[in-house]
Amino acid sequence: MEKKIVFSGVQPSGALTIGNYIGALRNFGELQDEFDCNYCIVDMHAITVPQVPKNLRKNTLDVLSMYMACGIDPEKSTLFVQSHVPAHAELSWVLNTITYMGQLNRMTQFKEKSKKSDENLNAGLFTYPVLMAADILLYQTDFVPVGEDQKQHLELARDLAERFNNKYSDTFVVPEPLIKEFGARIMSLQDPTSKMSKSDSDENAFILLQDNKDKISKKIKRAVTDSVGIVNYSDDQPGIKNLINIYSVLSGKEINDIVDMYSGKGYGVFKSELAEVVVEALDPIQTKYREYLDSKDYLEKIYTEGAQKAEAKARKTLRKVYKKIGFISR
Ligand code: AMP
Ligand code: TRP
Repeated sequence: MEKKIVFSGVQPSGALTIGNYIGALRNFGELQDEFDCNYCIVDMHAITVPQVPKNLRKNTLDVLSMYMACGIDPEKSTLFVQSHVPAHAELSWVLNTITYMGQLNRMTQFKEKSKKSDENLNAGLFTYPVLMAADILLYQTDFVPVGEDQKQHLELARDLAERFNNKYSDTFVVPEPLIKEFGARIMSLQDPTSKMSKSDSDENAFILLQDNKDKISKKIKRAVTDSVGIVNYSDDQPGIKNLINIYSVLSGKEINDIVDMYSGKGYGVFKSELAEVVVEALDPIQTKYREYLDSKDYLEKIYTEGAQKAEAKARKTLRKVYKKIGFISR
């Protein structure tokens, strides 16, 4: 039996948060044995918002190091940089021609990001989900492990796959999202009604995977809670609920057990023990991350070989697509 195919991507748009880890990266390594996994650093997506070139270069190697520190093994998975495989841009163009403006207009992430953009809106931000569909469809992907915020984009990828298949005959596998029940949406520590994001202007809103013990403790101590004063798992206490989710995922303890453990204890004790849980979970990741980041030659070898492997798979699909739509081969 051939292995089913997995694809996912992370933008090199800044240091990664525990939201990225819990919602996405943590799951990537687990899938490697059962599936044929492809993990991409989506630098072409990152430039849909302003980037400083020097930082983009650094962040790309950063995400690559973090991928491996979180357990992705380049011997098992294909690990590569999106801009190294031109087929992504090429398929994206073809898919643009079967995407309706109305569909893109409805994308929540576009609406949110365009509200924040004070300069002229760029067309890349609008067609961002089409590039993402190209990423996924090029590899004949069966499953896409992502956080909850990517669900709508996944729907579009499915829709485009089906539309193309109906129009030109079976070409793409229709991908399915893999979204975990817990932790698929980690919220901001400063505003538990909005998602934790690495691009938040308030750095107390997120914990970075590379934050030290001191920063982690401070940020958790400052996390917004409520005046109830009881460690409860309830929608009426979204701040505490979010902290319990983080606690549960990173410690492996059940929600109910955590609530029991802290019954009769205040938020202070809960928060300081949560800080310990986070520090302990991140410590081995940070050690490996620093080792990888220091091995520039090794990183170069990984992304060079990754691009070759990815290129071969992607070309195969793109060739089929070009043929079906009537492009003559060269
Ligand atoms: P991005 O940083 O936007 O490239 O996201 C990379 C991955 O992390 C995607 O699968 C997102 O769905 C996931 N992700 C980002 N932020 C969060 C969050 N706050 N909670 C859970 N998953 C997240
Ligand atoms: N849009 C995703 C995000 O911001 C990143 C991404 C790009 C992606 N291409 C992908 C995720 C393909 C999964 C599959 O999180």
